[in-house]
Amino acid sequence: MTAAPRRVAILISGGGSNMVKLVESMTGDHPARPVLVLSNDPAASGLDRARALDVPVAAVDHRPFGRDRAAFETALLQPLLEASPDVVCLAGFMRVLTPAFVARFAGRMLNIHPSLLPAYPGLHTHQRALDAGDAQAGCTVHEVTADLDAGPVLGQARVPVLPGDTADSLAARVLVQEHRLYPAVLRRFAAGDRTPVLLG
Ligand code: GAR
Repeated sequence: MTAAPRRVAILISGGGSNMVKLVESMTGDHPARPVLVLSNDPAASGLDRARALDVPVAAVDHRPFGRDRAAFETALLQPLLEASPDVVCLAGFMRVLTPAFVARFAGRMLNIHPSLLPAYPGLHTHQRALDAGDAQAGCTVHEVTADLDAGPVLGQARVPVLPGDTADSLAARVLVQEHRLYPAVLRRFAAGDRTPVLLG
């Protein structure tokens, strides 16, 4: 008897290109299936892309909650728990989650971050890599823990920094690798294998 596919919810804030690659990867003998794409921005264009891929969508606008992150997260939890995901993938989700929220999905929430962690947690990763004169940049998929961008690494992909690179050109080169890395990590993770995926 084959195991039931792992249920995957994907959280986005914008265009959702990583979400599309994750959804497209979950076919055939893949051990997981997408059950929800959830955004903190009802206008996120990624929601339309998810609908076009026949994935259920929901949005919880964070703005009416102001600085009350706990109240926002209570609202965010409702559609998420209704979807009863086994795995939650943050894919360009640009809200910082509280430790209490993260704890609910301990060991089964992943994030993709556009740097070679532990270098450059937080924002403006590409500009910071350029400012430091780094020869390489890249992206990391990691388990989400209470500390921002600091959970165990599940995969990394590297790209060279090229002469004349700008933050935008570097971001575009890294994004190509994000689209390879995240599906590769999810496939492994959903099969119960936490061995890091190393690309590039
Ligand atoms: C990606 O580059 C992702 O690594 C980054 O946002 C972009 C989302 O693009 N995430 C973060 O910076 C998280 N702190 P997408 O919406 O096209 O997937």
